[in-house]
Amino acid sequence: MTHHLPPIDVRPTTPRDFEGIVRLTRAVYPDNPPWSVAQLESHLEVFPEGQLVAVIATDQRVVGMAASLVVTWDDYDHTATWREITESGTFRNHDPSGRTLYGAEVMVHPDVQRRRLGKRLYAARRGIAERHELLRIRAGARLRGYQRYTNRMTAEEYVLAVLHGEINGPTLSFQLREGFQVFAIVPGYLPNDAESLGWAALIEWLNPLVATEADHAARDPKWDVPQDHK
Ligand SMILES: CC(C)(COP(=O)(O)OP(=O)(O)OC[C@H]1O[C@@H](n2cnc3c(N)ncnc32)[C@H](O)[C@@H]1OP(=O)(O)O)[C@@H](O)C(=O)NCCC(=O)NCCS
Repeated sequence: MTHHLPPIDVRPTTPRDFEGIVRLTRAVYPDNPPWSVAQLESHLEVFPEGQLVAVIATDQRVVGMAASLVVTWDDYDHTATWREITESGTFRNHDPSGRTLYGAEVMVHPDVQRRRLGKRLYAARRGIAERHELLRIRAGARLRGYQRYTNRMTAEEYVLAVLHGEINGPTLSFQLREGFQVFAIVPGYLPNDAESLGWAALIEWLNPLVATEADHAARDPKWDVPQDHK
């Protein structure tokens, strides 16, 4: 699958995709338990518009997915874990009156990474935020690769080095290119994630159709993305 990429559709998730999503999770995160069918069913029950898959057009094989819910961010502490913000991955805490689309998952099959499918899933996710007139998208970018630097720098120093292009942080570099900005660094976000040692950068994208100057001004300039990273 690596050379010629067949036509791929990005579309809303249906129950027929569940088996494919479970298989995809196993390929992307071989060391962690995959999404369960019960969790995926719950996502479709509480917020069907928030669930997306990328599938090979001819056989509907799932090669990517993005799962989101709406939250009232102030209901959570800045140090809240992924488990808390997703109610243990069920999205039962989905709150249609919230202003934040929370990106709980995005993944692309390793065979077809770096082929712009992540970009397409993110574009579709921005479309959800725009259609629902939400202020922003927030997510946790696990600090994959921090494990190799832990003796030399703090998690914050690592993130600043990724931001300034001194280190390639596999997930965070992708999200910065997608227009996200860091706003906090949290420990224990995904406690079982060996590559990040649990650390994550909380990131946000402001919806240009809704965000005001005050929303932009409230951001800490420490996390401004240098022009050459964009
Ligand atoms: C993160 C992920 C979804 C990106 O998907 P992808 O399809 O490989 O990304 P794309 O091909 O759309 O890349 C989009 C941009 O990000 C950049 N990018 C992607 N992966 C990158 C990496 N490992 N290092 C640096 N930049 C990267 C691409 O160069 C591209 O930039 P460009 O537009 O300037 O060319 C995918 O790598 C993945 O599934 N990773 C494992 C799961 C994961 O960590 N998910 C995030 C959970 S927090």
